[in-house]
Amino acid sequence: MNLKKTLIGAGLALFSVASIAATSYKIGTEGGYPPWSMVDAAGNVTGFDADVGAALCKKLDADCQFVVQAFDSLIPSLSANRFDLIISGMSYTPERAKRINFSLPYAVEDAIFILKADTPAIKADSAESIYTDLAGKTIGVQGGTTHGAFLAKVAPKVNIKDYETLDQMQIDLDSGRLDGTFADLTSQSRFLKQMNTTDYALTETVIKGSSDPETLGYGIAVGIHKDNADLKARVDAALCELIEDGTIKSASEKWFDI
Ligand code: ARG
Repeated sequence: MNLKKTLIGAGLALFSVASIAATSYKIGTEGGYPPWSMVDAAGNVTGFDADVGAALCKKLDADCQFVVQAFDSLIPSLSANRFDLIISGMSYTPERAKRINFSLPYAVEDAIFILKADTPAIKADSAESIYTDLAGKTIGVQGGTTHGAFLAKVAPKVNIKDYETLDQMQIDLDSGRLDGTFADLTSQSRFLKQMNTTDYALTETVIKGSSDPETLGYGIAVGIHKDNADLKARVDAALCELIEDGTIKSASEKWFDI
């Protein structure tokens, strides 16, 4: 009887040690940003960032769960410890780095405009002439992104309209309420394909991600709470391994067709 009790006690103790040891992280993402992070019909987060997150968690020996939230609420929520990491195509910018830590970059991204196909800026051969042509026009961006900050700096005569989601922005473009949109090259190309129209086009000039690192950032990185230097070190080490072993490359080939 006593032996049985002891064994049951030991079993419970073992079980609880095991469950404390298993780490679990919550990852904040926006979920409306194809092909980086999307929510499928079953409610699962998919896309490049979902694959990067899953591979990262495997390396960290952790169970991970995505939390879907508006892009401009991700940093405040991370700071309030509502999740542990942000993986949402988020660029490392000096401004954001005052509030959160960033990992090493795991991707780089350029930006581009979608405009009406007959706008002269479509064929402009420099970024500066695009900005001149767009003076007085209204361009949609996703609120809280690097794109709004960049455009306000380099093209102050452009009217910038913030959207919480790319979906809303694209509806307004489709129905003629915007002269164009400015966002990451990968999401803009994908959207234009979906629109299946010749009324709109991508500008021939791509805005290089390195054009103005102060606003456009230094590459796409994982966000980590300011106070968690240990987690940052482990995320950086895991990302290095995922870059070296080709995991990040094959995820990008899977999701980005340009
Ligand atoms: N790279 C840009 C930024 O950091 C856009 C990211 C948008 N991401 C998203 N999940 N909606 O501001």
